[in-house]
Amino acid sequence: MSRMSSLFALRLPAPKHPRSMRTLSVALALLACLCSLSVPTTAQSAPGIVPEKIYIKAGHLFDSTSDSLRENMVLVIAGERIAQVAPAADVNIPPGARVVDLSKDWVLPGLIDCHTHLEVRADQYDPINEVRATPFMGGFNGVVNANKTLMAGFTGVRDVGSQPFFAVDLRNAINSGYIPGPRMVASGPPISITGGHGDMNGFAPAVSNMMYPAEKDFAIVDSPDEMRHVVRAQIKYGVDVIKILATGGVLSAGDSPGAEQLTYDEMKVAVDTAHRAGRKVAAHAHGTQGIKDAVRAGVDSIEHGSLIDAEGIQMMKQRGTYLVADIYNDDYILGNAAKFGLGQEMIDKEKMVGKLQRENFAKAVAAGVKIAFGTDAGVYPHGDNARQFYYMVKFGMTPAGAIRAATSSAADLIDRSRDQGTLEAGKYADVIALNANPLENVRVLEHVGFVMKGGVVYKDELGATQK
Ligand code: ARG
Repeated sequence: MSRMSSLFALRLPAPKHPRSMRTLSVALALLACLCSLSVPTTAQSAPGIVPEKIYIKAGHLFDSTSDSLRENMVLVIAGERIAQVAPAADVNIPPGARVVDLSKDWVLPGLIDCHTHLEVRADQYDPINEVRATPFMGGFNGVVNANKTLMAGFTGVRDVGSQPFFAVDLRNAINSGYIPGPRMVASGPPISITGGHGDMNGFAPAVSNMMYPAEKDFAIVDSPDEMRHVVRAQIKYGVDVIKILATGGVLSAGDSPGAEQLTYDEMKVAVDTAHRAGRKVAAHAHGTQGIKDAVRAGVDSIEHGSLIDAEGIQMMKQRGTYLVADIYNDDYILGNAAKFGLGQEMIDKEKMVGKLQRENFAKAVAAGVKIAFGTDAGVYPHGDNARQFYYMVKFGMTPAGAIRAATSSAADLIDRSRDQGTLEAGKYADVIALNANPLENVRVLEHVGFVMKGGVVYKDELGATQK
């Protein structure tokens, strides 16, 4: 194996969920140093010691177990989890207790974006950037982007594609408490055919091979057997989810979004191999036939779904396949990307699919296809994730439905319903708050004023911890 692949073959530590109780004062210390991306040293609680509680007064609570608000509630946080959610009248807050006062605000579960690329910058489209820096650059990007994502109220992401296996490293660094960021469900490199959406096209072989020396092992497949190997190899190195590229794409040279790339047989092997290991499969698919073959092969979600037809919609509904449609992207790609090096070929492809994708999303919503929130952050700037809510509502969802797509439904898709997605006893204390009602205007989610993850306050522009 090459130099670069041996770099990524290092044994990675198993993900570790911090168990320690983090006090509010530690959290406030964090607030003071957020700009420098520092992380609080956590007070380790000895086994058997009951963690100090935090009482969150929630004026208007959207807990994501239903589509409605509950007024005047209290969330009792013990350590990193929620111990109790109850009407304020039923909770006795002891004098001197630590209180987070959101009694005038709207309180929601931390949001989850099911389609991010944390290592990617939205101000660098020219593929030449891939050879200008070492893969470590992706790591630097990831540290910054993970923080931006968390500050925007996204306490969870499913990251669906990075160079080998940086997303796993980033996930582990966040889980160990070393850097701030959302809880990550991490994929390896998206699995592509030779010359497909995930390959480096348009370069001489020597350059192309220099870019991805490990691709045969981790990213490029041309038969069911190669697919089986690559899925197993990715799982060996710690990925949580498998990302496959069923069709061509917009932001890749030399292919077409409408064209099927992986075969049904290759995708079937991907799904069987991944599911056998307890991993879900996300399929990038714009094209009509590729979507249907991916659904038939049993993938858990269709990403983009741009050119889906009525039959594809019915198939997804019947099988309960999630649609994760990045319907904000079109604005940014057509508005800003050219000045950051996006070529005319890609702009033309975006013009082909962008509008249709939104219209077809509306049809899928109307038909009752399961929707999970996913934006393709990295194509547009990280931290702007919530801009997509507006389009989800414009194209047929209710505000409550769009929020549930980014909370309870997202947690279901990424297999984290036990821990995330709703505000209920037993879940992680991943809590955000807004000073306006998102059910009246979903755009207020673009300015999340308060972020708590695992009982630690990372952002408090609402003054909730000072009252
Ligand atoms: N990563 C996707 C691709 O290159 C982005 C598609 C963006 N366009 C859109 N209309 N959603 O195919």
